[in-house]
Amino acid sequence: MEKEFKVTPWEVSGEIDYDKLIKEFGITKIDNKLLERIKKYAGEPHFMLKRGVFFAHRDLNWLLDEYEKGKKFFLYTGRGPSGPIHLGHIGTWIFTKWLQDKFGVELWFQFTDDEKFLFKEKSYEEIQKWTYENMLDVIALGFDSKKTKFLVDTKNINLMYPEALKIAKKINFSTVKAAFGFTNENNIGEIFYTSMQAVPAILPSVIKKENIPCLIPLAVDQDPHFRVARDVYPKLGFYKPAIIHGIFLPPLAGTTGKMGSSDGEETAIYTTDTPEQVEKKIKKYAFSGGQPTTEEHRKKGGNPDIDVSYQYLRMFFEPDDKKLAKIHDDYKSGKLLTGELKGILIEKVNSFLKEHQKKRELAKKQIDKYLIKN
Ligand code: TRP
Repeated sequence: MEKEFKVTPWEVSGEIDYDKLIKEFGITKIDNKLLERIKKYAGEPHFMLKRGVFFAHRDLNWLLDEYEKGKKFFLYTGRGPSGPIHLGHIGTWIFTKWLQDKFGVELWFQFTDDEKFLFKEKSYEEIQKWTYENMLDVIALGFDSKKTKFLVDTKNINLMYPEALKIAKKINFSTVKAAFGFTNENNIGEIFYTSMQAVPAILPSVIKKENIPCLIPLAVDQDPHFRVARDVYPKLGFYKPAIIHGIFLPPLAGTTGKMGSSDGEETAIYTTDTPEQVEKKIKKYAFSGGQPTTEEHRKKGGNPDIDVSYQYLRMFFEPDDKKLAKIHDDYKSGKLLTGELKGILIEKVNSFLKEHQKKRELAKKQIDKYLIKN
């Protein structure tokens, strides 16, 4: 029997079959040939590319063709500020920063406060608070302030609205209904929203009055917005943006769905968690691929493929391929116990968060450098 899974911008659940998703979404798997091409410009591909954390794309070969001809692209990604940032959010941004550094390009980062106000049961004021808090996390990751611009939908609306209108006029209600499953109960802001998320992919081209290629790194649930919008851009005289798609960091408690803030504290590690909270969450909740007893584990070994701690190391916290392979093999053979594996992860997460929290404090004085003055 087929296992059900769901991937939309508003819901991610079930055991996700990424190969099936590639077919459903009509996106293309990143193959070795493309990895080699990236290597040519970026040196060694990022470990997230090599390990399939970023696994699919749209038009990346075209983007590199243009780059080869001397035409620089810009990066665009974003965040819907509905709550605190957890580890599941920042993988995409760490990868985006790597792209920015390697290619030396601009990043436009959108904060969709409008989206989260429309789609969540939260007040406008609360969403504003999270917009500020989330900005601190993005800045803490080290984006170059000279090359990074924050767009806040309700604050930069004067820049965005003319373009959103032009896009909205070319998208029918029936199209967004089909793409997102909207019904008569959706509010009318939600129906308009995709046109706002579509704008940053062309805004630099509008401002600089020349067509500039765009690359959007995103978690694959955001693809439907751009599937709809990519049909529209050429009608307005712009390029279709290239996209690179990431998989989801699983929640602590298991390998289905994605790490999310809405499902209770056990499924997420927040960037503001203390070392004690991190230790407790991982020890108590991280789903284990180990055996029930030490004796059995030594004999049969563990299963790293379903072990959440191992997956976090693979996807995020152990960039060193040799070290990761040793952890994998030792766990599989039973030499490394679940408690020890969790210990490695706790160490890694806490040293990452210690740095991050320091930079997050400093970010409070830097926000102004990233904001776009109207
Ligand atoms: N809708 C995204 C979210 O809910 C935020 C977002 C806006 C975004 N523009 C984007 C994400 C571009 C990826 C790429 O978090």
